[in-house]
Amino acid sequence: MSIIAARLGRIKPSATNMLTGKVAELKAQGRDIIGLGAGEPDFDTPDHIKQAAIAAIGAGETKYTPVPGTLALRKAISEKFKRENGLDYTPEQITVGCGGKQVIFNAFMATLDPGDEVIIPTPYWVSYPDMVALAEGTPVFIEGRETNGFKITADQLEAAITANTKWVMLNSPSNPSGAAYTGDELKALTDVLVRYPQVWVMTDDMYEHIIYDDFEFNTPAQIEPRLYERTLTLNGHSKVFSMTGWRIGYGAGPVELIRAMNNIQSQSTTHTSSISQAAAVAALNGPMDYLPGWVAAFKERRDLVVSMLNQATGISCQSPDGAFYVYPSCAGVIGKKTQDGQVIENDTDFVTRLLESEGVAVVQGAAFGLEPHFRISYATSTEALEDACERIQRFCAGLTD
Ligand SMILES: Cc1ncc(COP(=O)(O)O)c(C=O)c1O
Repeated sequence: MSIIAARLGRIKPSATNMLTGKVAELKAQGRDIIGLGAGEPDFDTPDHIKQAAIAAIGAGETKYTPVPGTLALRKAISEKFKRENGLDYTPEQITVGCGGKQVIFNAFMATLDPGDEVIIPTPYWVSYPDMVALAEGTPVFIEGRETNGFKITADQLEAAITANTKWVMLNSPSNPSGAAYTGDELKALTDVLVRYPQVWVMTDDMYEHIIYDDFEFNTPAQIEPRLYERTLTLNGHSKVFSMTGWRIGYGAGPVELIRAMNNIQSQSTTHTSSISQAAAVAALNGPMDYLPGWVAAFKERRDLVVSMLNQATGISCQSPDGAFYVYPSCAGVIGKKTQDGQVIENDTDFVTRLLESEGVAVVQGAAFGLEPHFRISYATSTEALEDACERIQRFCAGLTD
């Protein structure tokens, strides 16, 4: 009998975390690898945030905090919601976890029973379906069609809702496609949801501030106040403050839900680091004047990558409104052969051969539930992106029928 629990049979390791490990391994072997797999900004955490952490250590803020997070942090989050989203959440309605990842995990663990369905639009962030499965729920997928900018429509949403639907997962701007819903598009979805009182909304707003060309960010509880009582609004510090390693994510919603999530957390990690929490307060209350510079740099890189990929034979790439990913189609290379005669049957073959022959690490669309595509994170230097796109162009040009 195996020592491993049966529930592990329902999930697979995170494809993006695995790729990050693989890139590190290949680099350690001395290979010339460009990693475009990691979803983290290449900018440093702003200095005033680092200084707040150092000050917290000096002041002895090195002990346990309340499970949902310090009151100071929950107050700062409450003010952020009011200031940026026009949403009222009291500190009691807020929970802080070890990254948005843990908060989403807590939410599913706290609410799903066997048979409960969670609607997840594709392409999705890698972890949603596995977290749902681990919590014994059933993921139900809706295709965000490429022809609709990788977004789902109100009709598709309505058709997917059943008596067992507990949550609808929304993520705008999206990882992996960068797709972002306009206010009108989001309203069309919330108009459907208003009619199904058993369905809750989980909105992952992690990329709220990484949007381009005057795009306006929207979140469901703000667009449709009638959904406020059944919405969990999620956000975090990883992307907007470049604080991936600090592990700060948070959720806000009805007190009953937040208490249940805190219960789960009290029996697992207790809370995220007290020092990170002090830094997170400084981040929320401090200046964000660095952000326009970051967003401008991301936009320049997006434009570069989209243009260079569209020059690669067999690749086509849309230009998304947010986040720092593109999700090109590699449909045009499926069925072609590499120079050593290997047939590219699917997007997993494409990314594998690309890594082997050109040393460019990207993630296969299969990991995000929509094929044949691949994801590029352009949160890296312009030089590396140029080099990588040239290698992709060379690889594609070398494929034969
Ligand atoms: C859409 C989305 N949600 C949640 C997360 C989790 O981020 P973290 O746990 O670092 O807050 C990520 C990270 O890549 C993400 O892209």
